[in-house]
Amino acid sequence: MEEDLYTDPLLAQFYDSASQNRVDFEYCLGMAMPGMSILDLGCGTGELAVGLAKLGAEVTGVEPAEAMLDIARGRDGGGLVTWVQGDARNVRLERKFDLVILTGHSFQVFLTAADQLKLLASIAAHLALNGRFIFDSRNPDFEALKGRKVDDNIRSLEHELHGQIEMWNRSDYDEDSRILTYENGFRIVATGEEHVAGAEILYTKQRDIADMLAASGLCADE
Ligand SMILES: C[S@@+](CC[C@H](N)C(=O)[O-])C[C@H]1O[C@@H](n2cnc3c(N)ncnc32)[C@H](O)[C@@H]1O
Repeated sequence: MEEDLYTDPLLAQFYDSASQNRVDFEYCLGMAMPGMSILDLGCGTGELAVGLAKLGAEVTGVEPAEAMLDIARGRDGGGLVTWVQGDARNVRLERKFDLVILTGHSFQVFLTAADQLKLLASIAAHLALNGRFIFDSRNPDFEALKGRKVDDNIRSLEHELHGQIEMWNRSDYDEDSRILTYENGFRIVATGEEHVAGAEILYTKQRDIADMLAASGLCADE
C-alpha cells in the first residue's frame, strides 16, 4: 500500500531514524549566530530548526505536513521555535529573515519550473537585505543516476519507539523529465508490520537553477 511519506503520522515517525549523518545540518549550524533570524522552509520534523534555536538564533519553521510538525513541536527544545503550518510557495510571514534555509533536498519536491519560481519568489520576499538563502539540490549529471531503474537495499536501524526496523528504497529515474520516482519501505521487526511510501523529486540542472535564481532577484554567492 502506498502512503504518504510526510503526512502519515507513522511514516513521519520513521523520518529521523532514516535521515542521519546530515552534513547539510552541520553546514547550516555552522552559520548560526545568536540573535540571527532564520526561516527554515520545509522544516520537516524540526531537528535542524531546534538545533539552530538552541544556538541562540530566532527560528521560524514552515512545514505543510501536520504529522511532521507534531514531531517538531514535541521534540526537546520544540518550544524555542515558531512553527507555522504552510506551503513554502505561498507563505507570507510579512517579515524578513537574515537566513532562509531549505535543506534535505526539499528544493526537489517542487516538480515544475512554475512551482520552483513561486518558491524562489517566496524566499526573495522573506530575505533581509544582505540576507542569505542556503539550499541543496542533487546533481542530475551524477553518473550513478544515469540508467538507474531500481535500487533495492535493506538496512537495519534502531527506532526509539519501535525498536529494530528495516528500511529499503526503490527508485526509478526518468532522464527525460529528470524526475526520480521512489519508494521508501519500513518494516517493524517485532510485529512484521510494513509501510511503504512513494514520492517524486525533480533533478534540476545547475544552469537552470542559476537562471531561476537570477529571475527571482537572488544573487548566487556559491
Ligand atoms: C526531504 S524532507 C526535508 C525535511 C527537512 N528540511 C530536512 O532537511 O530533514 C522534505 C520536506 O518538504 C516538505 N514539503 C513538501 N512540500 C512542501 C511545500 N509545498 N512547502 C514546504 N515544504 C514542503 C515535506 O513535507 C517534507 O517535510
